[in-house]
Amino acid sequence: MELIETPPINLDRLQSCINRELDRYSQFGRGCPDSLAEAIRYALLGPGKRLRPQLVLMAAQACGGSVQEALPAACAIEMVHAYSLVHDDLPAMDDDDLRRGRPTCHKLYGEDIAILVGDALLARAFEILLTEIQPADRAVRCASVLGHAAGATGLVGGQADDLADHCSGCTIEQLESIHQRKTGALFAASLEMGAIAAGANDTQHATLKAYGRHLGLAFQITDDLLDVTGNPEDVGKRLDKDANHGKLTFPNLLGVEKSRSRAAESIDQACAALAPLGKAGADLHHLANFVLKRNR
Ligand code: IPE
Ligand code: IPE
Ligand code: MG
Ligand code: MG
Ligand code: MG
Repeated sequence: MELIETPPINLDRLQSCINRELDRYSQFGRGCPDSLAEAIRYALLGPGKRLRPQLVLMAAQACGGSVQEALPAACAIEMVHAYSLVHDDLPAMDDDDLRRGRPTCHKLYGEDIAILVGDALLARAFEILLTEIQPADRAVRCASVLGHAAGATGLVGGQADDLADHCSGCTIEQLESIHQRKTGALFAASLEMGAIAAGANDTQHATLKAYGRHLGLAFQITDDLLDVTGNPEDVGKRLDKDANHGKLTFPNLLGVEKSRSRAAESIDQACAALAPLGKAGADLHHLANFVLKRNR
């Protein structure tokens, strides 16, 4: 593989920019009860890694675009992600009480408000895309990509299969399909939206989408691994919960070592997919290595 000489990426580099915009986009005016606004901002602005929005911005930059023109798409994907976490933690789903080292949204604000927090974040994401991305045809394409990734054949479909009992006895292909949809779809959409916001050509777009799919699968495998091997303080979530809930995960199906190898293989595939970008793909290359080695 080609040696990339750029210094390792600082994952905090774009975070303050993203956090500032998320804060601005979640100031709701009249009509939004204060208690609901507080719960939305709790779920959105908490100490997450902001990986998906960083991917949007890096993708845009890799195509010669600017952070500024891709920021609405970055915020939109983080809102969809934050909504998915709030709903994922609900008692009817994974029934978790800890997220990002803090009580889950429903523990603090109640299940009813937590459901509405998710609804509001999902709606706000599309409002931002369609009003803030210029020109309008790029806004429409971003909304279409995000809607498809977040929907019944993407995140929601993957989450439904993740919860289904019939997954016991699943094959590795079926598990990969669940992970590709519940997590990989939003990763691929992050890269695609960055490309679209920057006016990328077809090769750049396809390259980034392929990278996102491989990275997304690796990310969920490492999430499964952290549930078994992670340090609770670093991860900020309750551990060992997948096995306790009878979840089908990579470590449950393949064991820890083979799961690590499968994650490494996906990261290699992600990095190989970047080849057409040359040096412009250096940050994304480094980010892929971070995903493999991450401890949170
Ligand atoms: C957690 O995602 C949910 C999965 C898809 C595995 P992250 O690990 O990116 O969560 P935050 O945003 O950093 O909290
Ligand atoms: C969640 O997967 C994927 C989502 C779409 C939110 P997990 O259920 O494994 O995520 P965590 O471990 O609760 O963050
Ligand atoms: Mg889940
Ligand atoms: Mg969960
Ligand atoms: Mg998990």
